[in-house]
Amino acid sequence: MPRTNHDEAARFNFLTHFNRYLSGPIGGGNRLAYEKRVLPAFQAEHGRDPQHRYEIRDAMNEDSWHRMWSAMKRNSMEMRQHTGRQAVLRQLDELDAMAAQFNQHSGQLELDPSIEQPEYQTAVDIHCQPGGYHGGERENDVTVGANYDVGLFATTGGALGGLNDGGGQAVVEWAKKERPDWSPKRILDIGCTIGHNAVPIAQAYRDAEVIAIDTAASSLRYGAARAAAMGVKNIKFIQASGEDLSRWPDGHFDWVQTTMFLHELSAKAMPRILSEAYRVLAPGGLILHIEQPQYSDEMPLFEQFMRDWDAFNNNEPFWSAMHGQDIYEAMERAGFPRDSQFSAGVRAVVDPEIFPPSPDDGEEDYGRAAIWNAYGAWKPQAQAAAA
Ligand SMILES: C[S@@+](CC[C@H](N)C(=O)[O-])C[C@H]1O[C@@H](n2cnc3c(N)ncnc32)[C@H](O)[C@@H]1O
Repeated sequence: MPRTNHDEAARFNFLTHFNRYLSGPIGGGNRLAYEKRVLPAFQAEHGRDPQHRYEIRDAMNEDSWHRMWSAMKRNSMEMRQHTGRQAVLRQLDELDAMAAQFNQHSGQLELDPSIEQPEYQTAVDIHCQPGGYHGGERENDVTVGANYDVGLFATTGGALGGLNDGGGQAVVEWAKKERPDWSPKRILDIGCTIGHNAVPIAQAYRDAEVIAIDTAASSLRYGAARAAAMGVKNIKFIQASGEDLSRWPDGHFDWVQTTMFLHELSAKAMPRILSEAYRVLAPGGLILHIEQPQYSDEMPLFEQFMRDWDAFNNNEPFWSAMHGQDIYEAMERAGFPRDSQFSAGVRAVVDPEIFPPSPDDGEEDYGRAAIWNAYGAWKPQAQAAAA
């Protein structure tokens, strides 16, 4: 990981606490503003309650408290990117050299320049990240991967632990509890970025070969070097798109994993990826998607509106539509029968000695706490044979 000097560390410390403060006490003011000011005004004007999260958004965008909170949140993202990028550029020669050395010797990186970046990834700088996941300061560098790694704990308020891998650890905890005797041999992680959450899976299932794919070479370059530096050898980082997994035969993998990936896909890409995942998954195998909870009729509209913030203020163009869709139906269209599907709650595993646990008051946190839903399926034996 890039090293931070005194000033960079101070900035990151500030941002970490600032984010916790924004999602806690300051964020809580949004509900107050809504209940005391915005909702009564809406009711007086329309003679009814809002019927969609977008109606709440339009009304709240006029409210002074919400505007202040929103502006500070946007600023915290921009400050996080400035700080990370500055730290990385200062030591880029050293980072590039280290990554190149690890990757040359480990054999854990396979790049394919013919893989194109999907347009939905290049059209905007995703969550204000300069160059998205794929850009770079110069040819063959690790700028974006290193920046992603060094600043993620600030964005999440430390909720993912010292190695930002609390999500992957939680997945492992869940799988070991669910199927204690299961020993998958081939695991595919789609959209791995730098492998934060694929590496803990490789560490937990030492007999398995983990293939971590992504379209972004810059992220993979850093991720493969990071895994090698950590001594994790049973994982390979391959440049490939989840939309075309044709290099792997039907039923090749025992487990297909995605972590915080689906919400960054276009409406066209997501069904293709789900279908490909179905095809390469072996009968009896597991598919597991870790995501923020989908919006449902049971989720209050105000909470949906708060969770939607990133879609409109943080360059997450697919967030709102993706979380608004019926994921069970999308999985069924890809081939997974409803009765093979399940959902479960997953909470990031954190090292409390480094960071205090993420807030557990889900009501006031609106997606900043590292508590997710796992949407998954065990691919049926019979259905796979018939298909
Ligand atoms: C939010 S990040 C995923 C985070 C990662 N799974 C983790 O656990 O840290 C989304 C990643 O998906 C990648 N991506 C987008 N479209 C893809 C595709 N069609 N195939 C493979 N990777 C893709 C992006 O390059 C990016 O690295």
